[in-house]
Amino acid sequence: MKLNEHLRNHRTGFILLFILICLWGTALEAQVPSGGKKISDELLGLFFEDINYAADGGIYAEMVQNRSFEYDPTEQQGWNPFSFWEYMEPGYSYGRISVETSDPVHGNNPHYMVVDAEFIGNYEKHEGKSGVGIKNLGFDGMVVNAGDTYNFSVFLKQLSNAPVTLDISLQGTDGSVLAENKIQSTSKDWKKYTTTLVPSQSRDTTHLVILATTKGKFAMDVVSLFPEKTFKNRPNGLRADMAQLLADMEPKFVRFPGGCLVHGDGLHNMYRWKNTIGPIEQRVEQRNIWGYHQTAGLGYFEYFQFCEDIGAKPLPVVPAGVSCQNSGGTWRIGGKGQRALPMDEMDEYIQEVLDLIEWANGPATSEWGSKRAAAGHPEPFNLEYVGIGNEDKMTPEFEERFTMLYQAVKQKHPEITVIGTVGPFLEGEDFEKGWEISNKLQLPMVDEHYYIEPDWYLGNQERYDTYDRKEAQVYLGEYASWGNKLYNAIAEAVHLTAIERNGDVVKMASYAPMLAKKGHTQWTTDMIFFDNTTLCPTPNFYVQKLFMKNSGDHYYENVVNFSKKDTTLAASTVMDSKTGDVIIKMVNAGKVPKSMEVNLSKFKNRASSAKLTVLTGAPEAENTFDNPDNVVPVTEEYGVDKKFMYSAPAMSLSVIRIKTKT
Ligand code: AHR
Repeated sequence: MKLNEHLRNHRTGFILLFILICLWGTALEAQVPSGGKKISDELLGLFFEDINYAADGGIYAEMVQNRSFEYDPTEQQGWNPFSFWEYMEPGYSYGRISVETSDPVHGNNPHYMVVDAEFIGNYEKHEGKSGVGIKNLGFDGMVVNAGDTYNFSVFLKQLSNAPVTLDISLQGTDGSVLAENKIQSTSKDWKKYTTTLVPSQSRDTTHLVILATTKGKFAMDVVSLFPEKTFKNRPNGLRADMAQLLADMEPKFVRFPGGCLVHGDGLHNMYRWKNTIGPIEQRVEQRNIWGYHQTAGLGYFEYFQFCEDIGAKPLPVVPAGVSCQNSGGTWRIGGKGQRALPMDEMDEYIQEVLDLIEWANGPATSEWGSKRAAAGHPEPFNLEYVGIGNEDKMTPEFEERFTMLYQAVKQKHPEITVIGTVGPFLEGEDFEKGWEISNKLQLPMVDEHYYIEPDWYLGNQERYDTYDRKEAQVYLGEYASWGNKLYNAIAEAVHLTAIERNGDVVKMASYAPMLAKKGHTQWTTDMIFFDNTTLCPTPNFYVQKLFMKNSGDHYYENVVNFSKKDTTLAASTVMDSKTGDVIIKMVNAGKVPKSMEVNLSKFKNRASSAKLTVLTGAPEAENTFDNPDNVVPVTEEYGVDKKFMYSAPAMSLSVIRIKTKT
């Protein structure tokens, strides 16, 4: 056969195969009844910001607080490099300690501790083990479980001629030793040492004790203790129970690292992603805009890894070259309000944003892709979105820098969807100006934010109905109603039905903030409260979870019928074309049960039994640490006909999930 003929035959084969694939695809699509509209299949995700001790002391599983002796009085009054540490010299030993900076492990991490154990006593009977050292108090203590392994590591530099033996232990507040192990210094240069601790008992409040039990002088830094059981057993990983709670929500994306944290408290406090990758001892720690310390131990690699581990798309947000307009200006740079990067620094900054895309998606052989590979991830992370800016003040300085960044990313990476920002409120000057900039630049998507009273959500269900579909799509990156009572959650459920209905223009949405540590909150309304042992998801969390786990990609009008004049009622109906399931959500934000008529006639091959999940209770009901399960959804089997009346309980979200294919 001649080459031409051969190619022609092959081409015919390929065309036939292509037609078959198309027909097969149409057959699959045909299971989706007509009359619906396609909506975003990645509508709901998570917003992560290191606010309320969400990262250090929160989801980041590091148990040692101030591990690198970098705490500073500018972060909180009274803080210093020795905060959350205590000096110890039991057994009538004596010595001295000092914080020094002359020869650190790494220049990014300047402070370290020097311990000079001058005399080791021998009164062990009275005071337990003798020695000279320090004790870390953790983040409100350290929780340990009997039999679990905890990985300890430390950088040491021996300063005396004689090696020093260190006794590493976990101790109860009464001084009882729950686990111990030994390390001996061997090097006069900085060297990392590791050991493990396996506690004999479970305790909620232990401390880590590092005691020189032989005479000598040494420097130490980056003292770390991690449970071996982190989420997916990742080293430098996340608190397993908390990360699992988030994974179980099945979010479609995770936005990080904020929030206001992104643009920072003044220019020198902006979140610069390159400072947060690589070995932890080389990361740049800094003051958190929310008034505490960020180690950057939970950095860009860990965020991307978490997204991959839970099947969510990463959505990093980078500063738009300006700092937060609410910057106090008291820290390191003078002046209050928004500050802009000098123009002669913009080229370098633009490159930093382009480098992020190469770091995430570039081949392992590329300059930045190789750093990702070195961290253990040679495959790309498949980044699709980059947010530029966070609810910035729409000044000429902002517009100029945003435009430069947007155009550079668009030109070099047309495959990346850039998300712009339209200010902190649902309307007003910055909102208007933000949309104007978006229209001028023809942005693909913008990030709206609003925190507002619950009643607003009931009275404004039509907000997105009239959005111009030719303008940018919306990422509702931050929203919540002010409060964590059931009524707040139900008001948000009303809003989510409107978001699903407008899922052709609202591409993504995320409730904010996500995490809040008991006793350490800067923002009162949050999705999940926690302490070291307990997770306390709010009713708002359950609404988010129910919508996330019951998302669809096609929306249908008029399946649920009720008086549209009654703003306490709302409903949405979606189909998930992958499973073929029809999902109906009905919300009653009123104080009495109300009937809604459900008409399923357009959905063929329906199963007669469905799953009904209901979240309901008193409007004021909430979850507390004493009763974290006060408001939780309940699921039961529910018979469905072609048409039926559903009585929506007072103050409720009801989700009915019906199979249409076996
Ligand atoms: O979610 C808390 C804060 O609210 C965010 O940091 C900021 O973007 C918004 O003002």
